[in-house]
Amino acid sequence: MGQRMRYIHHSQPYLNKIALKPILDDFSKGEYFNSLATETFEDHLQQLTDGGALALQPSGTLALYQSLKNIKIKGKTDVIVSSYVCDSVLWAIKQNNLNPVFCDLNKDSWTISAQQVEKVINENVLALLLTPVFGFSMDIKSFRRFNVPIILDLCQSFDYFFDYHNNQDLGDFFILSFHPTKMFPAGYGGAIGAAKEPFSTVVNEIKNYPFEFPNINARIGIWLLGEYEKIRAMRKKNSYKYLSLFCERYTERLKKHQSTWQNFRFLIWNSSTDFELLQQRCHTRGIAIRRGVDDLLHRRIPMEDRIFPNTCEAFAKTVSIPMHASLTESEIIKVAEETQKCMNQI
Ligand SMILES: Cc1ncc(COP(=O)(O)O)c(C=O)c1O
Repeated sequence: MGQRMRYIHHSQPYLNKIALKPILDDFSKGEYFNSLATETFEDHLQQLTDGGALALQPSGTLALYQSLKNIKIKGKTDVIVSSYVCDSVLWAIKQNNLNPVFCDLNKDSWTISAQQVEKVINENVLALLLTPVFGFSMDIKSFRRFNVPIILDLCQSFDYFFDYHNNQDLGDFFILSFHPTKMFPAGYGGAIGAAKEPFSTVVNEIKNYPFEFPNINARIGIWLLGEYEKIRAMRKKNSYKYLSLFCERYTERLKKHQSTWQNFRFLIWNSSTDFELLQQRCHTRGIAIRRGVDDLLHRRIPMEDRIFPNTCEAFAKTVSIPMHASLTESEIIKVAEETQKCMNQI
C-alpha cells in the first residue's frame, strides 16, 4: 500500500532535531527565560543593524505598538498604512489613539508606492507605516521625501533585515516577528530596532522595560540565524519548482515582481475564483490555501471599496498556496497539480 501524504499546511516552521537539542538541555537545567541564550539572540540580531539598536519584544504586534507610542510629535495623529495587511497593525494604531489613513496599493502590486502616499499625505501625519508583505522588498528611500518618520514593518520580510547594510534604508524604527507562520519562525516573539539615532536611543530605553524573553524562542532563533542561508535557499528552490509547474496566467503577476521577491509566500493571481469554494475543494484534497490577507482593514472602519480599487482587486484575485522550506518535491507537485485542477473547474 502507498504511503498516505501528510496534510499540507499553508505555512510551517522549519526545525530539526539539532535545533531542539539546546532547548532540551535548558529544560534539564531549569533555565527557561532571560538566560545567556536570550542575550546572545538579541546580540546576533543587533549585529545585523551595523551599529544600531534592537530590543526583543513579546510579539511583532507589541513591537509595532511600542514604535508608534515612541514617536511623539505634538498634535499629529495620522498614520498612513496599507489596508492590505493583518489586524495587528490596526490594533497597534488604535491602541495608541491614533488615526489610520489608508493608502491604496500600487497598481498590479501588493505594496504601496510613494505615488499612492502622495494622494493621502497631510499635515497631521505622525508616521508612515510601511508593510512589505509576502517577502517583497520596497524602495524605502523613495518615501523619505515626505519627511515623516518611517516605521518599517518587516514581520513578513525578514530577508530585507538579514541583508541590511549601510546603503539600504531600515526606516526609523523597524519591526520583526518570530511567529511560527512568518519568514523567521522562532516560535513566537518579535523585536523593535533602529539603525540610527535618535531612534536607536529610544530602542535602548525600550530594552529596559520589564520583559522576559523565553529561552525556547531564543534557542530556535540562534539556530535559525546560523542556518538561514540554507533555509532560504530551500525556499527559493521550492518557489522555482512551483514557477515551472504553474500555468503562465496564474504566475504572471508574481513574475512581474520577481526581482524584489524573497520567495516567502507564493501568490497565484486567479481572476475567476469563488475563493471559499476553491479553499474547500483544496482542503478536501489535503491542501490548505489562504487569501493574501483575511480581510481588508478599511472595511473594518468601514470605508468604501471604491476608494481602494487596487487593494480590492488584489484581495479578490490573490490565492496564497502552501510555501515553506520544509515542503518536499512531491508535495510541491501535488499542490501545483491539485490547485490548478480545482481552479480550472471553478
Ligand atoms: C505585516 C505584519 N505586521 C505585524 C504582524 C504581527 O506580528 P505578531 O504575530 O508577531 O504579533 C503580522 C503578523 O500577523 C504581520 O503580518
